[in-house]
Amino acid sequence: MSEPERLQKVLARVGFGSRRVCEDLIADGRVQINGAVAELGARIDWERDRVAVDGVDIGVAPDLVHYVLNKPAGVVTTASDPEGRPTVVGLVPAEPRVFPVGRLDIATEGLLLLTNDGELANRLTHPSHGVEKEYLAHVEGTVDGGGLRTLRDGVELEDGMTAPAKVSQPEPGVLRITIHEGRNRQVRRMCEAVGHPVRRLVRVRIGALRDASLRPGEWRELSSAEVRALVE
Ligand code: URA
Repeated sequence: MSEPERLQKVLARVGFGSRRVCEDLIADGRVQINGAVAELGARIDWERDRVAVDGVDIGVAPDLVHYVLNKPAGVVTTASDPEGRPTVVGLVPAEPRVFPVGRLDIATEGLLLLTNDGELANRLTHPSHGVEKEYLAHVEGTVDGGGLRTLRDGVELEDGMTAPAKVSQPEPGVLRITIHEGRNRQVRRMCEAVGHPVRRLVRVRIGALRDASLRPGEWRELSSAEVRALVE
């Protein structure tokens, strides 16, 4: 038997939103454990209990799948969107059911992992693992030396200083930024803080994983070597 976990934590991990959002889902009576409406504070045994949201089972199939998607702009990084906008989950096979690992803003493009492997997702999103994510940010204007230094050293944001980042400007107004934190809208907020709002943002690398051959909206399965490289 696995260690019982708080329901909102499990829901958050499989992509239903922040823990707060997941608590609201539970409080609204939209989550069931073994067919009965779940109470806030419930714990589940991931291996034994069947959890459903709006009647749809979130349990993982025994076969683990890992996809990398080139997310187009205009698609939301959730399993289901109450406003009915297109979702990243809608771009990959419906079965087995997968969920996005971390999130990209609706306007952000580029590489996104989707999997039914809760353990891997947990490891990749846990701040202590600090997996590198590399972005190309097309910004307004050309960033001068002082701006680049600030982005590298750390930017004061409303939720605190950012950790040191790798930042270069391969051409005027295009920044290559590598961060290992996963704060909300972090790259956009960093660039805005130095006076260069982002016009277009593309994630080009997650850990060791790159793929310049996928067109927007295309996905492929990761090889087991790629999955291992991500974890390492
Ligand atoms: N930083 C952002 O600002 N947006 C993203 O989607 C990812 C990183």
